[in-house]
This record gives sequence, structure tokens and C-alpha cells, in this order.
Amino acid sequence: MTITLERAEQAYCRVRDVVPRVEWATMADDVEAIFRLKQERNAIILAHNYMTPEIFHGVADITGDSLALARQAVDVDADVIVLAGVHFMAETAKLLNPAKTVLIPDPLAGCSLAESITPEDVRALRAQHPGVPVVTYVNTSAAVKAESDICCTSGNAEQIIAGLGVDRVIMIPDQYLAANIAARTGVEVITHPGSCEVHERFTADDIRQIRADHPGVDVIAHPECPPAVVAAADFAGSTADMVDYVARKRPGQVALITECSMSDNVAQLYPDVKFVRPCNLCPHMKRNTLSVIRRALETMTHEVTIDASVAESARAAVARMLQPGLWKDKAVTA
Ligand code: 13P
Ligand code: SF4
Repeated sequence: MTITLERAEQAYCRVRDVVPRVEWATMADDVEAIFRLKQERNAIILAHNYMTPEIFHGVADITGDSLALARQAVDVDADVIVLAGVHFMAETAKLLNPAKTVLIPDPLAGCSLAESITPEDVRALRAQHPGVPVVTYVNTSAAVKAESDICCTSGNAEQIIAGLGVDRVIMIPDQYLAANIAARTGVEVITHPGSCEVHERFTADDIRQIRADHPGVDVIAHPECPPAVVAAADFAGSTADMVDYVARKRPGQVALITECSMSDNVAQLYPDVKFVRPCNLCPHMKRNTLSVIRRALETMTHEVTIDASVAESARAAVARMLQPGLWKDKAVTA
């Protein structure tokens, strides 16, 4: 057995509870090639929690929510970063690693939130609300980040909004995340009519049905869900907060109100927990497959570049969210 075959077999051990052996047989060749190419290219794979298990547990080097991927991207010791996720995540990795090659396996992996807002929209909001700080969700383009004072993710939004110490903020572009954070912090939030096409489809009736069908189930919702869904849940948090909740509480049954691969990935780690699976698929995240990741490493495509005219300001907005000490620097209008 070659070293790579050993690696593919080790990778299988990490997914065997959620990927049948017969399916793995169709994946092993790509897995072996990816391990070989990572070594040849001195590359690492950063994978979001919504990747399918064969990517998440099989070939990824670093996994997590948007915040963890941004944080970990800062310390990456490799020449090449493959971002198995969506385009804004790859742009964030590039902003934090301007000297490294950052690849997005499929450049069409977008996000309904990122597509909902333009830099002109941000400038118009600023003109309507002079002096009000602009907090921008990382699910946006670099050009939109460049118009912002500070970024946030679902993992730190509450902390950042509360930490600004102001009564009003412009929080864009997710109207539901903004409403959920306003409810938790008491800060008045001016927002934008963007939404996540995956999470906006969940309803409070879905939660009632899950509770009726699975008495005693713990329901955890992503804060991109509408406020009525978050209110009906037991807990709301980022995808990393969801993993943490299951790890700490070990509920008998849990429903993760989010993208489908989350339950598969967490179920592999906690076989004692029963996962109720009322999920919606993200078509953008699902553009990442083993074969497109392999092709990205073989051909060194698609390289992420950021327009020099926006890179510096966008990087500053991301850096402020990663270094809380910078929240109150003079560039933040609060
Ligand atoms: P997290 O930051 O919670 O992982 O969310 C990212 C995302 O795209 C959710 O839809
Ligand atoms: Fe965007 Fe929603 Fe997909 Fe996340 S799940 S990448 S917010 S469309």
C-alpha cells in the first residue's frame, strides 16, 4: 500500500459513520490525488462547516465557521490556500494573506447575501445616516467591505455591536441577522433587505412540527434565520456555536436549523446524539466537490485576486473584527 492509499484509508476512518464504503470507493482516487497535490504544492485546504463529510473530515486541514476560517487564515504556513467554501470566504483569506496564492475551486460559488448589496448601497446608507457606524457581515464582496467601518460574522456580531458602545448602527446586508442582534443587544439597527436563501426558508411552524414529531429535541437555529424561527429555538449561534452546543450538552436529540452538511459532519463526531435533519441545501457551498478541489490543485485555478483600489480598506475592516482593540480606532466613525 502506498503512503497516499494509507492516507485515503485513514480519511475513510474519519467519515465511515456517514459515508457508505461503496460511495467511498468512488471518492478514494480523488482523495489520494488531493493528498499528493497538497504536498507537491505546499497547499492547505480551509473548509467551511457546510462542506460534505468527505471534504470536511476527509481532506480538509482546517475547518470551522466563517470567523474561525478568517482567524486561522492569518497563521497559515503554506504557499497555497484552497478555500473550500464560497467566494467571500476566499476573498477574506486573500485579504489576510496578500502574498499567498488563494484558490477557490469553483468561482461561481457565491452567496445570496453577498449578491444583495453593492458599494453604492453602502454609500447611500451612510449619506442617509451620517455618523452612524457601518458593521458589515463578512458575507459580502471586498468592495462592500471597503466601504465599511468593521466586519462581523455570526460568531461575533453580538460582541462587536455591543462593543461599539453606540445606540444605532448600520448592520448590513442580512436583515434577519440584524433583527436578531438588535433583539439581543437593544441597539437600534438600520439594515438592508438581504437574506440567506437557505435560512430564510425555515419557519416557526417548521420548529413546532419538529417539536411535535420529536418530543424533547433541542432546536438550534442559525441567526440568519428569521426572528420568529430564532425565537422558537432553544439556542441560536454560528455554525461553530452549534458544534460547541452539541459537544457541551450532548442532547439526546438535536435539530440544527441550517444547511444539510452540518448535521452529517457533527453526527460523525457525536454518534451518541440523534440528529433530526430538517435541513436546506446551499447550492453555492455544494459546488465544492472532491473532483473540483482536485482540479483546483492540479491546474492552480481559480486564483482569487482583489482590486488594489479596495484591498487596503477591506483588509482594515476585517482586521478590526479580528483585533477588538482596533474597534475604537479613529477609522471607526462611532
Ligand atoms: P457561519 O459563520 O456561522 O459559519 O455562517 C456562514 C454562512 O454562510 C452561514 O450561512
Ligand atoms: Fe450564503 Fe446562505 Fe449559502 Fe451561507 S448558506 S453561503 S449565507 S447562501
